[in-house]
Amino acid sequence: MQSQLQNGKVTFRPMQFDDVPVVAAIDQVSFPSPWSESTYRQELRENRAAHLYVAEQHSELKGRAEIVGYVGFWYIVDEVHISTIAVHPTLRRRGIGRMILNHALEQARALGAELVTLEVRESNRGAIELYRAFGFTLRGRRPGYYKDTDEDALVMFKERIDLYQQDAREKVSEH
Ligand SMILES: CC(C)(COP(=O)(O)OP(=O)(O)OC[C@H]1O[C@@H](n2cnc3c(N)ncnc32)[C@H](O)[C@@H]1OP(=O)(O)O)[C@@H](O)C(=O)NCCC(=O)NCCS
Repeated sequence: MQSQLQNGKVTFRPMQFDDVPVVAAIDQVSFPSPWSESTYRQELRENRAAHLYVAEQHSELKGRAEIVGYVGFWYIVDEVHISTIAVHPTLRRRGIGRMILNHALEQARALGAELVTLEVRESNRGAIELYRAFGFTLRGRRPGYYKDTDEDALVMFKERIDLYQQDAREKVSEH
C-alpha cells in the first residue's frame, strides 16, 4: 500500500533535547493534559526506561525535515508501555499515526519485549480504532484515571510482540 503522504517521506530517529519545543507544542494541541517541555526533558535525561522517537517528514519544497509526530514508551523487563503518541493535528488521517505505532512496535520487538500495553481515554475513538487495527485488545478499565475530565482509561494489550510483523493494512510505504 502506498503512503497517502503527498509531501515527502517520513523517517524516524530518537528524540533529542532540541526537538522538545516542537514536540511539546504538538502535545499542547493534542492532549487535554499535555506533558510540559520539562517533562519531556526529564524523560530524555533521567528516565532510563524511556524511549522516545520523532517522526519527520521531508519536505522537498522547504528543503528540510519537520517533526510531524512522535511516540514514547517505557521498556521495563519484558514489557513496553506506550506513554505518549501523537501526530500534528493538521496531518492526521494520512497514515502517519499508523507508521509511528508500527515503528514503536518494531522497536519493542527489537528490544525483546513480549507485551505492549497502553492506556487510552474511553472517548478517544480514533486512537482506539488505531490500536484495534494493530491487534490491541481491551484488557481492563481504570475508573477516573484521567483526573482532568474524571474519565476512565481503557487498558489495552498487544501480546507476542516477538512475532510482530506489519500486516498488509499496517504496511505503509515510508518512501
Ligand atoms: C491517535 C492519532 C495518533 C492517530 O494518528 P493519525 O495519523 O491520524 O492516524 P492514521 O491516519 O495513521 O490512522 C490510522 C487508522 O486509525 C484509525 N483512526 C485514526 N484516527 C481516527 C479518527 N479520528 N476516527 C476514527 N478512526 C481513526 C482509522 O482506522 C485509521 O485508518 P483509516 O484512516 O484508513 O480509516 C492522532 O489522532 C493523534 O495524535 N491524536 C491526539 C493524541 C492522542 O489521542 N494520542 C493517543 C493517546 S492514547
